Amino acid sequence: MQALRITLCAATMAVAFAANAAEVEVLHWWTSGGEAKAAAELKKMLEAKGHKWKDFAVAGGAGENAMTALKTRVVSGNPPTAAQIKGPAIQEWGEEGVLASIDDVAKKENWDKLLPPVVSNVMKYKGSYVAVPVNVHRVNWLWVNPELLKKANAKAPTTIDEFFATAEALKKAGIQAVAYGGQPWQDATVFEAIALGVGGPDFYKKAFIQLDANALKSPTMVKSLETYKRIKPYTDKNSAGREWNLATAMVINGKAAMQFMGDWAKGEFLAAGKVPGKDFLCVPAPGTANDYTFNIDSFAMFKLPNKDAEKGEKDFASAVMSTQFQEVFNLNKGSIPVRAGMDMSKFDSCGQQSAKDFQTTSKKGTLLPSFAHGMAMHSATQGAYYDAISQFWNDDKMTAKQAADKLVAAAKVQ
Ligand code: BGC
Repeated sequence: MQALRITLCAATMAVAFAANAAEVEVLHWWTSGGEAKAAAELKKMLEAKGHKWKDFAVAGGAGENAMTALKTRVVSGNPPTAAQIKGPAIQEWGEEGVLASIDDVAKKENWDKLLPPVVSNVMKYKGSYVAVPVNVHRVNWLWVNPELLKKANAKAPTTIDEFFATAEALKKAGIQAVAYGGQPWQDATVFEAIALGVGGPDFYKKAFIQLDANALKSPTMVKSLETYKRIKPYTDKNSAGREWNLATAMVINGKAAMQFMGDWAKGEFLAAGKVPGKDFLCVPAPGTANDYTFNIDSFAMFKLPNKDAEKGEKDFASAVMSTQFQEVFNLNKGSIPVRAGMDMSKFDSCGQQSAKDFQTTSKKGTLLPSFAHGMAMHSATQGAYYDAISQFWNDDKMTAKQAADKLVAAAKVQ
């Protein structure tokens, strides 16, 4: 009897489940080793809520390809349930009238209390939540292979001068100093870290947030560009077009000693079984230890045709904000939870430092949005900045002054 009752009960539940089950299609660009492991946790959590995950993965670091694919789908009137959209681009999509409010979930779960305003404001369009944040990535990191440094008798750099001294020592020892991926978003990722190290946080704010022409054509900008270009001789001839994770693999495998990259790179080290502090080091990009360039991943929600689909969407949003998800996803992704009050004891030293620095820099006013990762400016302006920086990196005839003029012009593109 008892057994029968349990079976019947389970069957009734399964029916109830199926009635509300939705197919949740999620657009993202998490296809590298560490990224895929993190994305798999998202899928698992959604499936545990009884929904079906439909993967819409579009490879390509920083998501340029994914954004192109998204535009095609939305224009044809067939958006996915949720898409990895970040920063000011959430407002741009909101203006298109295609995003759905998830305010009821956000109110019920008190998101306004769980998220710092610097995050919640970006997740809202006209005062309503239309997106859910996943994490906080720190961008201004340098990833270091300590064994190679030892061979060259060099130390992990803390200042820009030390960085070039270390690079030179490595070069003399026959070791490639810098692993580099020559793609516009990666060029911008390295450049913003260098510009911050050279010019400091006030200069960074003027040049990349306020888009101030005087800062963009200033001697500090010219020096930032020149310093950035000084890295080139320490990279290899095959860097053009290289994906970021292949550059990280060079540091993992001892082919190159250092990489400027956000902490999604840590996901690659961890996925390869490497231990922070032992097999690899995370140090703030030279000259930027007191600053924090942030990059927050988030999913924006699209307007959907029926109630079941909406239920799936809201369950997805709720899962993303849950403490379990924020922990397990970020342990794999290399980032830290965005939700306040999380226990950080399972995170490694890089994660704990990131969490601590996020708080300190936020109080000091040196918590800065990463322009290279869509946090600071309109997407069209960002694209124009990318072009100027990449052209300068690739064209050895272009002067830093010419590149600075291009940045002044880029700031006017909207
Ligand atoms: C995203 C990360 C991602 C990285 C490389 C960044 O813009 O925020 O989640 O891992 O690009 O694709």
